[in-house]
Amino acid sequence: MSAPVSVLTQRFEVEDAHTMDGYLRTDGYAALRRAMETRPTDLVQMVKDAGLRGRGGAGFPTGVKWGFVPKDSGKPVYLVVNADEGEPGTFKDRELMERDPHQLLEGMVIAAWALRSSRAFIFLRGEYLWSGIRLEEAIAEAYREGYLGKDILGSGLDFDVTLHYSAGAYICGEETALLDGLEGRRGQPRLRPPFPAVAGLYACPTVVNNVETIMNVPHIVANGVDWYRSMGTEKSPGPKVFCVSGEVVRPGNFEWPMGTPARQILEESCGGMLPGRTLKFWAPGGSSTPLLTADHIDVGMDFESMTEAGSMLGTTAMMMYSDATSVVEACLNWMRFYEHESCGKCTPCREGTFWLSQVLERILEGRGVPADIETLQQACEQIFGRAFCALGDGATSSIFSGLKYFRDEFEHLVEHGRLPDGVSTDHAGVVTDNSGRHRPTLFGVA
Ligand SMILES: Cc1cc2nc3c(=O)[nH]c(=O)nc-3n(C[C@H](O)[C@H](O)[C@H](O)COP(=O)(O)O)c2cc1C
Ligand code: SF4
Repeated sequence: MSAPVSVLTQRFEVEDAHTMDGYLRTDGYAALRRAMETRPTDLVQMVKDAGLRGRGGAGFPTGVKWGFVPKDSGKPVYLVVNADEGEPGTFKDRELMERDPHQLLEGMVIAAWALRSSRAFIFLRGEYLWSGIRLEEAIAEAYREGYLGKDILGSGLDFDVTLHYSAGAYICGEETALLDGLEGRRGQPRLRPPFPAVAGLYACPTVVNNVETIMNVPHIVANGVDWYRSMGTEKSPGPKVFCVSGEVVRPGNFEWPMGTPARQILEESCGGMLPGRTLKFWAPGGSSTPLLTADHIDVGMDFESMTEAGSMLGTTAMMMYSDATSVVEACLNWMRFYEHESCGKCTPCREGTFWLSQVLERILEGRGVPADIETLQQACEQIFGRAFCALGDGATSSIFSGLKYFRDEFEHLVEHGRLPDGVSTDHAGVVTDNSGRHRPTLFGVA
């Protein structure tokens, strides 16, 4: 059995933790002093040995990514923090930045020391105004106290941080589209290779890391590799912030070791499903991850276990739905999002998400024909693996898995023109937006 941990969220209950005083009083910036006594190459090795994997969704090993940065390109090395957080259901970075912005800055300065970077950008989701205010205050304090700027703590490191407000498009969270956005262009994914670590921002070596990823770094430096690996699994070590939403008693962010069974998080942190409702389906890692059923609730929340179960860990945004909820409506809600957010660069995604929305809407409104179910399946097959970036693949996840586990609901709608008894369209809209709060259903409202 796992127990909840308090690493990244350890200052959440400290009232002034977002200020320099509060942060320093709770051992803040101690890891930075230790990091500056360590050679950059040893720091990179430490992050590799800890097994830290990216928390932005793909789970790529962070130390390995840092190791790809060429040492002698003669060009500046940029660090870019991905704080765009646009995946439906995901709101962990927002709370981490609001409650503990210095934790991010400390991680960034340590990363800058390891990467020999003197310039960083925080690419912040435009709607995250409160995170922005907290970060602006923290950045100003860090400059005043000598944790940013010239010759930080007498180490010889010069390091500047710029907060950049994004315009708020989901695709700008994709790391290469993000770089286009940062350079002032319309955010659309770039062809890879070259990868950003070699030629990223302004064609210079660039490391793009998620907020939560960077926040792990001070803890690895402060407590060591063995301590870090004592949490989680062999291949997915460390603590993880899970953001749970949907039809649960207490939605919110909860920190557990990687690999904790989903049931434990649902029951112990969230108080289970809402009274009178039982779990029907859930997305383990945000809207781009394949749906699972109540039969999968004991699967461990780590990269390997989730893949084995036929889904993905993604951003660990667990969206939970009950037996009163229509899976077809949930698919339509998500597909409308993807249709809206498709950047339009490639045909399978641009046209496919549009058609999928139309067909789903028709089925849900009782106007479906038997061929529609096959059309959904085929359209997804035309998108998956044929789209330019992972947004296209992600858009198909809920439909592929919805048809795999709940085909009978699609068929019932087509045959009878209405949902099965006990299932309605009242609840699927009870997902959270990125504020983490419940909101009423949008279905039926223009
Ligand atoms: C459509 C799309 C949106 C994404 N949005 C985000 C995001 O908001 N934040 C994030 O950290 N990663 C996001 N990613 C993943 C990034 O491309 C990238 O993998 C990540 O920032 C790398 O950081 P990490 O290695 O620390 O996880 C997104 C990917 C895609 C395809
Ligand atoms: S898959 Fe969609 S979001 Fe990605 S490049 Fe193609 S059109 Fe744009």
